[in-house]
Amino acid sequence: MSALNVRGQDRERSFSEAIAERRATPSFDGSPVPDEVLEKIIRAGIEAPSGYNLQPWRFVVVRAAEQKRRLRAAAMGQSKVEEAGAVIVCCGDPDAPRGRSLEEVLAEAAKHGFTQEQNQRVRETVTKIFGGQPGTALGLAPSYAVWVNRHVMIAFTTMLWMAEVLGYDTAPMEGFFEDKVKSALSIPDPIRVVALLGIGKRKGPDKLYAGRRDMRNVCFSERWGNTFPGA
Ligand SMILES: Cc1cc2nc3c(=O)[nH]c(=O)nc-3n(C[C@H](O)[C@H](O)[C@H](O)COP(=O)(O)O)c2cc1C
Repeated sequence: MSALNVRGQDRERSFSEAIAERRATPSFDGSPVPDEVLEKIIRAGIEAPSGYNLQPWRFVVVRAAEQKRRLRAAAMGQSKVEEAGAVIVCCGDPDAPRGRSLEEVLAEAAKHGFTQEQNQRVRETVTKIFGGQPGTALGLAPSYAVWVNRHVMIAFTTMLWMAEVLGYDTAPMEGFFEDKVKSALSIPDPIRVVALLGIGKRKGPDKLYAGRRDMRNVCFSERWGNTFPGA
């Protein structure tokens, strides 16, 4: 049985199955997540879409016992931080639209066939939009914290689902002190810590499903307040 198989089955779970069965894992059994699994999960996150393909996500993968202990202390003592096989600390770089980061994105695009002219157009547009101080970016990025959070959570969620499809359990976490996480993992300024993703094998029973709000309360048709057909 390959490490990528799902709970003894010879296939990955379908996305629909993963959505139906996923719970935020309360407790992990401490078993490690194999390197090839983690790599597949992280590659999925890296494939997430982002505005102008700027890819502002940055990840710190924490697996070493001592680092997990330090991270747990920064995460309100949540035991699942230490129990998870791996915790992906999902960060964002507010400087991604500028400097070396922008040039690296454009250089990669050139390798994939983007012309110099196309890249120059992106460079000029991005610089116009993101060149100013945080909060002044032509109304498109109301603040860099929002902008970074928007993108990092797409990569985060893509990794969560890939882990679930591969048969692993996940624990999303916002319960942490950003300054303490940064200090524990030597994360420099101006990088922001957005969320933690615990991955591993569940220990004990899953959390009770709390249900979701009805579609009619959260989804409207054409105008706010109009019932969506079928809701
Ligand atoms: C971004 C995010 C942050 C969360 N942070 C925590 C956390 O710090 N600790 C925790 O125990 N659960 C955390 N949760 C889990 C939620 O409590 C859980 O997803 C919610 O209660 C719904 O349960 P379910 O995911 O099992 O359906 C978080 C979930 C999300 C999406």
